Amino acid sequence: MLKISKLAMAAALVLGATAALAGEVEVLHYWTSGGEAKSVAELKKIMQAKGHVWKDFAVAGGGGDNAATVLKSRVVSGNPPAAAQIKGPAIQEWAGEGVLANLDATAKAEKWDSLLPKMVADGMKYKGSYVAVPVNVHRVNFMWANPEVLKKAGVAAMPKTYDEFFAAADKIKKAGLVALAHGGQNWQDFTTFEDVVLGVGGAKFYNDALVKLDPKALNSDTMKKSFETFRKLKGYTDAASSGRDWNLATAMVMKGEAGFQFMGDWAKGEFLAAGKVPGKDFLCAAAPGTSGAYTFNVDSFAMFKLKSADAQKAQADLSAAIMGTGFQEVFNLNKGSIPVRLNMDLAKFDDCAKLSSKDFVDTAKSGGLQPSAAHGMAVRPAAEGAIKDVVSQFWNDDKVSVPDAMKKLVSAAATQ
Ligand code: GAL
Repeated sequence: MLKISKLAMAAALVLGATAALAGEVEVLHYWTSGGEAKSVAELKKIMQAKGHVWKDFAVAGGGGDNAATVLKSRVVSGNPPAAAQIKGPAIQEWAGEGVLANLDATAKAEKWDSLLPKMVADGMKYKGSYVAVPVNVHRVNFMWANPEVLKKAGVAAMPKTYDEFFAAADKIKKAGLVALAHGGQNWQDFTTFEDVVLGVGGAKFYNDALVKLDPKALNSDTMKKSFETFRKLKGYTDAASSGRDWNLATAMVMKGEAGFQFMGDWAKGEFLAAGKVPGKDFLCAAAPGTSGAYTFNVDSFAMFKLKSADAQKAQADLSAAIMGTGFQEVFNLNKGSIPVRLNMDLAKFDDCAKLSSKDFVDTAKSGGLQPSAAHGMAVRPAAEGAIKDVVSQFWNDDKVSVPDAMKKLVSAAATQ
């Protein structure tokens, strides 16, 4: 009889055990631009190193509306992925459907409650149990610029107010370049609009208007001034901006075709992926009027109930990996965001990230820390979608007057 060596037997046992514990994780996300894809590839590497199979379910479309549509059809057909990029109040809605897995065992073993700001941890729970894992903290109210373009146009410094911004934009236009790189998609219009509301009205007004959806704030003179400022910005974008993807707008700044872009710091991921150096090839600053405020956007993965033990084990490993220090560092270095896990060493992070991290802490104390309405952090998805449409219609159609837009905003905010 063929004598199997002890070593071969041991190897077979280990392989067998590993194979039994190895599972497949299908992950739905919308990170398909250069910087985004590089970032999510790090999670794939970690899971493959653990012996799991990574099934990449990427749905292109910045801001995630396309991904949300595809996810709904998968869940309705009873075939959800292991994990999906879901964040903010939408987590509560999905959990309310009874389709999300309970992650408390992993959360307890990994001590998540002690590793997260309470506000973030609470957002990941449904009725006190974890159902999602946070990935990062993005700052939405960032402005990006090409220093060469500013120099060519005679703009001495990054504008801190809208008066300074429009003066700089006029100089860039006069120099024959695009002052404001913009992608004409509804979520990008909304991103710019929330920057304007924050810059014109301040954090308390932003909270009253776009978080509390207070009709008095939505109907106020400050909102009127916000819409007027928002429309004035349109005149500094280029005619080809309609439908442009956000990362192509970032590329316009990168290539020196445009001076500024208002975009969350995932735009930094594009500059870094192209080998650009912050402070030298591109500049970052708070959007005009918002240096004392911080609109946060915490990406997260909600975990869906799965049938097989192997898949559940792989899902638990995925959850633990996302909150691990290794992933928190390498992912956020590529993504342009900062780690959501507390007490991480930011030595490898650049000055834009260090500014974001400092401001995150300072604004949490000052009241300047606000959930991003445009990125699913502030209001229920139905109201967010309705407001996004009103804002985009105003941006696209000069025939929509400011009073009309304000009236539409009030009714959109009431959408259940
Ligand atoms: C945001 C998302 C970011 C980034 C951006 C562009 O909603 O939170 O991680 O991907 O969309 O797609």
